Amino acid sequence: MMSQIEEKLYREAKMALPEAYAPYSNYRVAAAIMAEDGRIFTGVNVENASYGLTICAERVALFSAAAAGCRSFTHLVVVSDDNENLPLPCGACRQVLMEFSPEMKIIVAGNDDHGERLFLTLAELLPFSFEIKK
Ligand code: THU
Repeated sequence: MMSQIEEKLYREAKMALPEAYAPYSNYRVAAAIMAEDGRIFTGVNVENASYGLTICAERVALFSAAAAGCRSFTHLVVVSDDNENLPLPCGACRQVLMEFSPEMKIIVAGNDDHGERLFLTLAELLPFSFEIKK
């Protein structure tokens, strides 16, 4: 069961999904992240003809939030339009998300409002992550 906050993030992510730019993989992803102060930022995957330059929806959402001054996050919801292959954050995104909030809750969902969901924390997704003391 998703909390009210998680439902809101899920809806925001789904609203952003049509903006995903995925002409190469056709795998569309959107993410909505909530900052500690309650602000919500969304992102979509943005692919490139030079495939490796593609950026995932999670990082677009996080960097957009960081550019607005946010440094602490409570929830991230990631949605794809593919119900068969849930959009678990890739290894690079896990490390980037870890920079700010290891205890962040992560919900991964397909496009179906009543489909399967995974409820995780970032620390579960990336144990023993690299860190430099600040
Ligand atoms: N992708 C994301 O945006 N987030 C994920 O969690 C999984 C993968 C994107 C990258 C690429 O544009 C496409 O999905 C297929 O890998």
